[in-house]
Amino acid sequence: MVGGLHRLISVDDYRRFARRRLPKSVFEFVDGGALDELTLADNRAGFDRLRLLGRVLRDVSAPDLSVGLWDKTQPTPLVVSPMGSNTLIWPQAEVAIARAAAARGIPYTLSTMSTIGLDRLARQVDGELWFQLYVLKDYDFNRKLVQRAAEFGYSTLVVTVDLQTGGKRERDLRNGISIPLRLSLRHVLEGLTHPGWALRLVRGGAPQFENVRDYIGSTNAGLTIAARVAASLDDAMAMEDFARIRDWWKGRLVVKGVMHASDAADLVAAGADGIWVSNHGGRQLDSALSSIDALPAIRDAVAGRVPLLLDSGVRRGMDVIKARALGASVVGLGRAIAYGAAAGEAGVAGVLDIVLDEIANGLKLAGIPRYRDIDAGLLAGHGGVSQ
Ligand SMILES: Cc1cc2nc3c(=O)[nH]c(=O)nc-3n(C[C@H](O)[C@H](O)[C@H](O)COP(=O)(O)O)c2cc1C
Repeated sequence: MVGGLHRLISVDDYRRFARRRLPKSVFEFVDGGALDELTLADNRAGFDRLRLLGRVLRDVSAPDLSVGLWDKTQPTPLVVSPMGSNTLIWPQAEVAIARAAAARGIPYTLSTMSTIGLDRLARQVDGELWFQLYVLKDYDFNRKLVQRAAEFGYSTLVVTVDLQTGGKRERDLRNGISIPLRLSLRHVLEGLTHPGWALRLVRGGAPQFENVRDYIGSTNAGLTIAARVAASLDDAMAMEDFARIRDWWKGRLVVKGVMHASDAADLVAAGADGIWVSNHGGRQLDSALSSIDALPAIRDAVAGRVPLLLDSGVRRGMDVIKARALGASVVGLGRAIAYGAAAGEAGVAGVLDIVLDEIANGLKLAGIPRYRDIDAGLLAGHGGVSQ
C-alpha cells in the first residue's frame, strides 16, 4: 500500500508523485515523447487554448456524466488507452488499472505489448475489456491474437495504425530501457535509490511481452522497447490488410492513431465502427498536430456515421468537456493512468476520481446538466453562442 494519496488533488500531482517514486529511466519512458517533444507539448497547448462560454440559471444539481457509445450507455465518458510495458511501473499494473477502471464502469484497453497475457487479464478482471492490436508482420499470428481476444470476451478490437515504426524517443535511447530488462550499472543504481520499486519488480518477476512472446521471443534482448516493438510490426500494412482484419473480427472495431480526415472517411467506408483520434501522446510523429486540433476536420468528414474517440494530452476534466464540444464521444487517458499506477490500484482509482470530479464540476459551472448535451456552442468562437 502507498500512503498519503489523499494529498494528491490533480493529475499533475500524480505525475510529480510518479517522478519521485519511479527510477528516472522508467518515469521518462512513460512521460517522454519523440524527438523535440513538440507534439507532446502541443497536445496540452491545444486544450489550453480553448475557451468556454458557459450558461447560468440551469438546473445543474445532478450532473450526468453518462454517454451513448454504440448500442450502450457508458456511465462515464472515459476509456483507458492501451499502454504496453506497464509492469515496469507496478507489478501486474494491467490488473490494477483494469480493476480500478471496471469499478467505475470504464472500459480498459489491453495492449498487444502488455506484460500480462490477454487470457490471464480476462480471468482476473470483471469489467469491459477491449483489446488493442499492433499489426505484426505475420498475419497468421495476428489472426490468432484476434481470435484469442474474441475467445476471452474482449468486446472491442482497437487496431493501432500509427506505429509503422517506432518514434525516436531520445530519452529512452539515452536511458537504455529495454524489455526483457538488461540491467546496466545505471539501472542497478536506480534500483538501489528506489528500493520500494525495485523490491516490487523483483517479486513480480521479469517483465515479458506475454501476448507476443512466441512471436518475438527474447533473442534480441537489449533493444530498446520501441526498437523491439517496431522491428516486429508490419510497416507495409495497407487498406487491404485492414480489410482482412475487419473480416476476422465480427465485433466492434475501432482504428486508433488516425489524424487525417481523409483517412478517417476511408476507414469508415472500409468498415471501422469507430475512429480513435490520437497522435500516440506525442510518442510517434513529432510535429504532428495536436489531437484536439485534428478533431474538428475528422468530425466533419465522419459526419456522425461512427463515434469518435480521442486521446493525447488529456489531464483535466475540462479537457474531456472540450473534446466533447468538438465532437468526441469518449476520451482516452494514457499517461494520467500510468502516473496513478505508480501507486497501484489505489493510485489509478485516485486519478480516475479526480478526472470524473473535475468533469462533474465543469458541467455544473458551465451550466450543462448532461455531458452528452455538450456541443460546439460551449466553445467561444467555435459554436453558435459567441456574442
Ligand atoms: C507508456 C506508454 C505505452 C504506450 N503503449 C501503447 C500501446 O502499446 N499501444 C497503443 O496503441 N498505444 C500505446 N500508447 C499510447 C496511448 O495509447 C495513448 O495514445 C497516449 O498515451 C495518449 O496520450 P496521453 O498519454 O497524453 O494521454 C502508449 C503510451 C504510453 C505513455
